[in-house]
Amino acid sequence: MENSKQKGKFQSNFGFLMAAIGSAVGLGNLWGFPYKMGNGGGFAFLFLYLILAVCIGYSCMLAEFAIGRKSGKGAIGAYERIGRRFMFNGWIATMAPFFLMMFYLCLGGYCIKYLVANFGDIFGASWGVGDVASGDFFNTFVADPVQAVGFTLIFAVLTIVIVMGGVANGLERFSVIAMPALFVMLLITVIRSVTLPGAAEGLAFMFKPNFEVFKGWGWLKVLASAGGQLFFSLSLASSALIAYSSYLDKKENLEKNALIVPAADTTVAILCGLATLPAVFASGLEPTQGPGMLFVTLQTVFQSMSGAGPIFGTIFYLLVFLAALTSSISMLEGSVSSFMDRRLEKGKSQGRTFLCLTIGGISTAGAVLVALDALGAAGLPHLFGFSTWLDTFDLFSEGILMPGGCLIMTIILGWIRPGYIDDEIKLSGSYRSKPFVEICLKFLAPVFLAFIVVVQMDGFFKLGLF
Ligand code: PFF
Repeated sequence: MENSKQKGKFQSNFGFLMAAIGSAVGLGNLWGFPYKMGNGGGFAFLFLYLILAVCIGYSCMLAEFAIGRKSGKGAIGAYERIGRRFMFNGWIATMAPFFLMMFYLCLGGYCIKYLVANFGDIFGASWGVGDVASGDFFNTFVADPVQAVGFTLIFAVLTIVIVMGGVANGLERFSVIAMPALFVMLLITVIRSVTLPGAAEGLAFMFKPNFEVFKGWGWLKVLASAGGQLFFSLSLASSALIAYSSYLDKKENLEKNALIVPAADTTVAILCGLATLPAVFASGLEPTQGPGMLFVTLQTVFQSMSGAGPIFGTIFYLLVFLAALTSSISMLEGSVSSFMDRRLEKGKSQGRTFLCLTIGGISTAGAVLVALDALGAAGLPHLFGFSTWLDTFDLFSEGILMPGGCLIMTIILGWIRPGYIDDEIKLSGSYRSKPFVEICLKFLAPVFLAFIVVVQMDGFFKLGLF
């Protein structure tokens, strides 16, 4: 039950899992993983990614689940419960989604545009893509401020409205429908993609083991690429998972959930590769990374599929849209949850609606800036010499706040307060993975996260270290 003095609860573990997997599965899976796997040695990359998922992904996720559920609070309150002097790390986790949403809401808006355009193509509507070259269609769309901002606002409003609905009626109700639907659509797209003539080349790009890329210091590059990807893809250190687990019943098994979410996220990431790369190669195109792959290359693929192209295009962009929406609602919930606690502590009502509108509004303002920037093409002035506002907000979130915050979490739980999470995990299970998790949180994760911070800085400031 939710009332103005309570933040609400998930009705079932399934609801929690769908929401947490929904947070993890997002644009990161669709445009990061397949490409990085292909360039990082195929199976060799996958092997490394899985090791990281088990050591870093599992243990950090379990830790976030445990501190969230133990405190029953969002990130700020959860760290305050560990000790007042650690509260700052809750603030770091709460600020991360602000910046994440500033570019995610805009990209989500692009997904709606492509969903609508492909749907229009089924009927030959004037607002479809038609015969326009996909690169021209994309450039014209992003450079049109009314459309770019308009679709961004639609996506932002959807995110805000769902989160305003609360835990059971908003997040859970939406996720338990959206995630299974997403999975079905993904399977349909995979089947179409891998059965296209010429698909084998795409499968080879993705899966062929290539240990050449590991030669010399090459393996460090691959490690960095797999680590950065894992981090963003699992939604770590961004207050979303802490907030979600604070709404989870004490009887649910945290160890099991911390295994299922990364496993599902990785499975979906591989399926996303199967849904996209074989089709790209079958159309004689080269895979690229980022918006170009999702909105230009893949649109070309759908256009080349003749009759059924718009139908597959519609299914595909609906799936991308749902993946983005379940991620963006988790970002907003992460921040909102922290601030609701502060209000409740002061004896006020939780103020969910007010906070959704305020936090969502601030992030939307940033997203409008990203939309107006047209991925740098609009010539707006940028901070720090970056070429786009998207890169700037990505630096604040993915580059600094998320890996930095996660590094601090592992130092707190591995060194300063070892054992803090044990009782919470044992409430609902035997915590058999304790020795393993302790080694990961104490040694492996901090070293690795420090490495990721350096790599992110290197990437953003083009220092040329890697
Ligand atoms: N995991 C999402 C993706 O792969 O696109 C991104 C994300 C969602 C990061 C939610 C952080 C977060 F809180």
